[in-house]
Amino acid sequence: MSNLSRLIRRFMGIFLLTVLTLVSCNSFVSVSNIPSPSLPTANPALTSSSTVDSKDKDADLIPDAPYIQTPTEVVLKMLEMAKVSTADQVYDLGSGDGRIVIAAAQNFGANAVGIEIDPELMRESDRSSKEAIAKTPEISDRLKFIRQDLFKADLSQATVITLYLLPKANLRVRSEILPKLKSGTRVVSHDYDFGDLSPQQVQEVKVGDRAHKIYLWVVN
Ligand SMILES: C[S@@+](CC[C@H](N)C(=O)[O-])C[C@H]1O[C@@H](n2cnc3c(N)ncnc32)[C@H](O)[C@@H]1O
Repeated sequence: MSNLSRLIRRFMGIFLLTVLTLVSCNSFVSVSNIPSPSLPTANPALTSSSTVDSKDKDADLIPDAPYIQTPTEVVLKMLEMAKVSTADQVYDLGSGDGRIVIAAAQNFGANAVGIEIDPELMRESDRSSKEAIAKTPEISDRLKFIRQDLFKADLSQATVITLYLLPKANLRVRSEILPKLKSGTRVVSHDYDFGDLSPQQVQEVKVGDRAHKIYLWVVN
């Protein structure tokens, strides 16, 4: 047998082996037919304007209060008591699913920032923001969520602070945050006060059987 025919036979053998291997591995299935893993879709409206931010990516963040939602009626009363307007920069410290931030932008025309420690609640805020922006696109550049420990947040631009924490966390807010706020900043707190610091106003909102107290202070 000539060298040429030996070469052709060897090539044919290799070719046949390759084809058989590919067939047995199902490698001929079109790649486009393989469903890709479902990835979470980013909210372009939010990500493009850096609405969701993370300041403490690697920090071990431990909440100072559990997640409990403020009912809508109470959210609206809190923002009303603080006289929130288009001129305001509202910060919700421990923003949960973002409801106070969204209401401040949607119902009162304010710029609003949510500071939240829990990454799942950040995702929930992102989803809620997306729905709110679909209904009222003009609020898209008025919302921002930052994943951060509220005690490390930069509140130098804040004119209104909203809180729904716990008595101990409120006392920390009183000693660590209140002294840094601008004069005239309104602080509203759902259910918990600042110990012996007298509020300017207290109102009660009944939702079902439960009476919710709202406290307002204005920083000197
Ligand atoms: C009672 S919920 C209030 C949620 C929302 N503000 C509302 O009123 O519906 C308290 C929130 O504060 C968050 N939180 C607790 N400690 C925090 C901290 N040190 N920094 C940022 N968020 C915190 C919790 O994860 C939770 O979402």
